[in-house]
Amino acid sequence: MSKAPARIRKAVFPVAGLGTRFLPATKAMPKEMLTVVDRPVIQHVVDEARAAGIEHLVFVTGRNKGVIEDHFDQQFELERTLAERGKDKELAALRRDLPAPGQTSFTRQQAAQGLGHAVWCARDIVGNEPFALLLPDMLHFSAVPCLAKMMAAYEDVGGNLVAVSPVPEDQTQNYGIVGVRDPEDDVTEITTMVEKPKPGTAPSNLHITGRYILQPEIFELLERQKPGAGNEIQLTDAMLGLLERRDQDFHAVRFDGELYDCGSKLGFLMANVAYGLTREDLGEPFRAALSKVVGKLG
Ligand code: UTP
Repeated sequence: MSKAPARIRKAVFPVAGLGTRFLPATKAMPKEMLTVVDRPVIQHVVDEARAAGIEHLVFVTGRNKGVIEDHFDQQFELERTLAERGKDKELAALRRDLPAPGQTSFTRQQAAQGLGHAVWCARDIVGNEPFALLLPDMLHFSAVPCLAKMMAAYEDVGGNLVAVSPVPEDQTQNYGIVGVRDPEDDVTEITTMVEKPKPGTAPSNLHITGRYILQPEIFELLERQKPGAGNEIQLTDAMLGLLERRDQDFHAVRFDGELYDCGSKLGFLMANVAYGLTREDLGEPFRAALSKVVGKLG
């Protein structure tokens, strides 16, 4: 009988990018702190990780990102003021969101040398165990949270997993793309992968959506990884190296929900509409207000 795969306890959140597509908003504020309705984008992604059973949150930060650390810390003055003013609901919500003491770690990527390099910066904190990786600007909107679905698949197949979703054929050059054994399957073996393939050369139209479960051996490959597309150290290139060693399984898990790339202006605006419309306390009045705006300006 095969051994159950090692438990995933830690999740890495690379938040050291420059966010140039969102300037000037990101001049002094991290793009991960932009809000979708009333929660910072990073909080939505941390919610997804915690819903999947993640215990320890590892943030790879950079310059101007200190506010992310503050966001996940206790704000005593604020809590005292809320208590004094009888704002019990707000206080309870803040406390619910607060990670337990000792369950966050922060490290720095001194220069934004690419996603692969950012992940490598987490190697000492992650140690020799498999981990989840969530790109905080990609919001995965679905009934079953994406990472929870991946965790369930991991229980069955172990190894390395990436979430994938189809993109139009003429857009594959903008993404990390995987080739798979059976594109119709919900969970299928990965046969190859490439970061930003030249037009017409992509092995499929399935792109990596920004959710991963990785074995710690990825760090050895990242350590030696040369810069790739965009002259950045690419995670996809290191994953391809691990795949080609053929000593670990690599599976793609299909993500069936809606994806919002909050690193792009359009994706961010769409996320606010989608999350706003589906909020119990806000959906109805927001829908009415939105139709009014669209009616006037649309
Ligand atoms: P992106 O390429 O979308 O982020 O990286 P970016 O570089 O900040 O954005 P633009 O293109 O300049 O607008 C995806 C994720 O990886 C992190 C980013 O913070 C983002 O969450 N990242 C990227 C790093 O942590 N370090 C890097 O060197 C690059």
